[in-house]
Amino acid sequence: MPRVNRTAVLSLLIVSSSAFLLFQLYYYRKYVSKLPGPHILSQTGHLTASDVQWQTVKKFLALAQRFGLPLFLADTTALTLLSHDALRQRDRLVREPHCSFLCTGRPITSFALHANLWKYEPSFLLAAEQKGFELLELRGEDPRLASLDTLSGQEIPLHFLFRLHGYIIHVVFLYERSGNYLWSGALRLRADADRSFAPFKLLDYGRHAGAYDRPELVLTVLDGLDVRIPRNVSRFLSELRHARFLECRYREARNFLQMYPDDASPVAVEFRRKVKLLLHLASRTLAALNIPFWLSSGTCLGWFRQCSVISYSRDVDIGVFISDFSSDIIGAFTDAGLSLKHKFGKVEDSLELSFLSDDVKLDMFFFYEDGDVVWNGGTQAKSGRKFKYVFPPFSLCWAELLELKVRVPCETLDYVTANYGAAWNVPVRSWDWKTSPSNVQENGVWPPAEWAELIQVY
Ligand SMILES: *[C@@H]1O[C@H](CO)[C@@H](O)[C@H](O)[C@H]1NC(C)=O
Repeated sequence: MPRVNRTAVLSLLIVSSSAFLLFQLYYYRKYVSKLPGPHILSQTGHLTASDVQWQTVKKFLALAQRFGLPLFLADTTALTLLSHDALRQRDRLVREPHCSFLCTGRPITSFALHANLWKYEPSFLLAAEQKGFELLELRGEDPRLASLDTLSGQEIPLHFLFRLHGYIIHVVFLYERSGNYLWSGALRLRADADRSFAPFKLLDYGRHAGAYDRPELVLTVLDGLDVRIPRNVSRFLSELRHARFLECRYREARNFLQMYPDDASPVAVEFRRKVKLLLHLASRTLAALNIPFWLSSGTCLGWFRQCSVISYSRDVDIGVFISDFSSDIIGAFTDAGLSLKHKFGKVEDSLELSFLSDDVKLDMFFFYEDGDVVWNGGTQAKSGRKFKYVFPPFSLCWAELLELKVRVPCETLDYVTANYGAAWNVPVRSWDWKTSPSNVQENGVWPPAEWAELIQVY
C-alpha cells in the first residue's frame, strides 16, 4: 500500500475521533451538567419544585462567585435543617437526597453580605439580569451617618430581592457599626413599589432592623454547591431570634438638647468617659457569663431621651432577669477590678447588687416576672424598708450607646414612662429613689433578724 494512503487514513481517524470527543464534551455541557443536583433526571423526566429551587440557587451562587461576592447562607429554615440532630438529617437525606438543605419548601433563600465587600454593583446586576433574574432593590437611610449633630439623608442598599422562576433570593446587606457589630436595616416598601414582587411577609429579614455579632464563616458543600455558612449555626440562629435593633431617636434627642443643652464641663466629660468604660466592662463581664442585661432607670432614660448619658446622674443602671442570676457574678466583677459596694435582698426577693469602679457606681437590679407585671426591688439600708418598682412586661432589643451594642427594653417608651411618668422628657435634678419614681410602691420591711444577711454594705 502506498505510503500516502496510510497517512491519510491515520489523519482521518484522528479527525473523526476528535470530532467524537468534541461532541461528547458538547453533549455533556449542554445536557448532563444542567441536570439538577448530582443525580440524573427524576423518573418522570419533569423538574420538581425543589429541582427549580436548587437550580435557581446554583445559578445565583455561580454569579456571586464569578463576581467574588462572599455571600453566606443566612436562611433560617435552611440553617435550622442543617443544625438539626443527625437522625432527622438522615431522614431528610432519604426523602430529598439531592437537595436536603437548600430546598426548604419555602419560595425564598436568604443570603447575607458584608456591605463593605459590595463593589461590583452595575456589572453584577447586569449579569444577573442576563441570567433572567429580576431585581427589586430596597434602600434606606445610612444610620452610620446619623448622630446628634447630623441627620443622615444618604441612602444605601439594604436588601436585594432577585426573582427567577417564582423563587426569591434575598440578599441582606450587613453594615459595620461603630460598636463593632453588624447591622441590617428594616425593609420598607415605597408607596410605588411592586407589592406582589415577593411574599414579603415570609422574609427572614427586614421586619425590623437587626444587630449581630460578626459570625465566623466556613466554606462547605451543601447539596453539591459551595456555600459559606456560619461556623456555629445554632449560635447564629439564636442570635437571629433576638436581633431586633432600635436606632436612637436622634431627631427627638436633638430637640431635647436644644431645650436643655448638655453639660460640656470637664467634670461631665470625664463622667461620660468613665461611664463608657464601665458599661463596656459590664458588657464584657456579663457576656462571659452568658447573662443578658439591659439599660435600666436613668441610663435607659439617657439613651432614649438624649442618645447619651445624663451627666448629672451618678451611676450606671442595668437590669438582669432573676432567672439569669448566677452566683458567679460577684466574683466575675471583682476579678474585673470592681468592688462590691452593697448587696441587698436575696435571689427569691428584691436582689440588688452595686459595684464601684473608680467613683462611678454600677447598680445591677434583678427583675422578677410576676403575672402580667415585671418588677425590681429596692432596700433602704438604714431602716430595712423595702420598695418595689413595677413595669409592664417588655422584651429586649439591641441599641447602641457609647459605641457599645447594648440591650434596652423594646417597649422603651412604656418602660421609661412607667419609671419616670409622662413628664420624662423634662430633666429632674433632685431625685429620690424612694419617692420620685412613678412606679414605686412600699413593700414592707425586712425582718430585723435577717438584716445581716439581706443588707450587706461594704
Ligand atoms: C455554639 O454556640 C453555642 C452558644 O450559642 C455554644 O453553647 C456551643 O458550644 C457552640 N458550639 C461550638 C461547636 O462552638
